[in-house]
Amino acid sequence: MAVNVLRLNITFLGCGKLSSAVLEGILSSLSEPHQRFIRPSQPFTTKDDEPTLGLISVVPEKIFACVNQRHSADSLKEKFGPKGVTVLANGNVRGVEQAHLVVLGVEPSVFGEVLAEPGMRDALSGKFLISVVGGVSIQKLEAAIYGSRPRTEEEKERSQIIRVTPSTAAAVRESFTLILEEKDHRYRPELLLPIYSLFSRVGTVKLQPDSQGHIAATLAASSPAFFASALEGAVNGAIELGMDREEALEMTAAAMRGAAALVASGESPDEVARKIATPGGSTAEGLEVLREGGLTTLMQDAIVKTASKVGGLGEKK
Ligand SMILES: NC(=O)c1ccc[n+]([C@@H]2O[C@H](COP(=O)([O-])OP(=O)(O)OC[C@H]3O[C@@H](n4cnc5c(N)ncnc54)[C@H](OP(=O)(O)O)[C@@H]3O)[C@@H](O)[C@H]2O)c1
Repeated sequence: MAVNVLRLNITFLGCGKLSSAVLEGILSSLSEPHQRFIRPSQPFTTKDDEPTLGLISVVPEKIFACVNQRHSADSLKEKFGPKGVTVLANGNVRGVEQAHLVVLGVEPSVFGEVLAEPGMRDALSGKFLISVVGGVSIQKLEAAIYGSRPRTEEEKERSQIIRVTPSTAAAVRESFTLILEEKDHRYRPELLLPIYSLFSRVGTVKLQPDSQGHIAATLAASSPAFFASALEGAVNGAIELGMDREEALEMTAAAMRGAAALVASGESPDEVARKIATPGGSTAEGLEVLREGGLTTLMQDAIVKTASKVGGLGEKK
């Protein structure tokens, strides 16, 4: 099937921890043939009778990163400037004007003022706006740009908004990126396909109903932080016994990758543990420490608490 190559200017509106991880992953994907980034990992379920488009590959043409503070701009320039990224401080509208596709990655507390900047509405007109802002619905994003009034005849074309939750693992192209689809706001394939293509550059992409979006976003984007904490504990144990930190980090990360790969291949977490731990053996001793300390319950509580907060994040706006 023919591949439609879309050469798009991409502007990161806000480029902090998450967006710069996505940017880093996208830049490192550019050395690979773009044909790798065209195939959705699951069939589209958006609109039953919608004809699907041909395959689409998004290739970034120019990339802009907009931030607020001078020192953030300076460090982004140092990191991404040599790779052709234009960094702007206090130039949000200018950055958006030059884009075909905008990735909104500011904190939930400031998205409203950023989208309501004078000139922003026109600058966004007819463009893709991908929001990675946690817990903020499409309705709220639209209201921040257009107010609550319905569309008028003379109004320019509105931007097409899509909500996405990548993780910082995008930097190493291991993000599990969710495209969050709200019940009353189904995405059309001409919107989805380019987003699939762009984010498949930084890992796996899945379309996710937003009714469970806060849970999915917690698992996909927040839980790597929890696993990193567990990893830190294991490394500290090795250091306590005399091992060098670098070496311990390498081995622990490999062990975690191994456990994750087994689960991803279909083994249950319990099976993975049982196959390693002989009753009465040394691993069983360690597992007993974790059981007594309540590690599994703690992880469960961390997911529930985080997801509840993600679910309520946008409510203040
Ligand atoms: N980090 C994650 O793993 C993660 C996971 C899930 C969801 N998210 C969501 O992703 C979004 C970004 O998170 P983050 O962790 O990347 O935050 P962050 O590191 O604090 O980045 C925020 C970015 O927004 C910029 N910004 C703030 N005000 C601005 C303005 N008026 N104009 C232009 N840029 C402005 C900041 O620029 P300055 O540095 O110049 O202030 C910074 O580049 C949040 O909405 C969060 O809910 C993040």
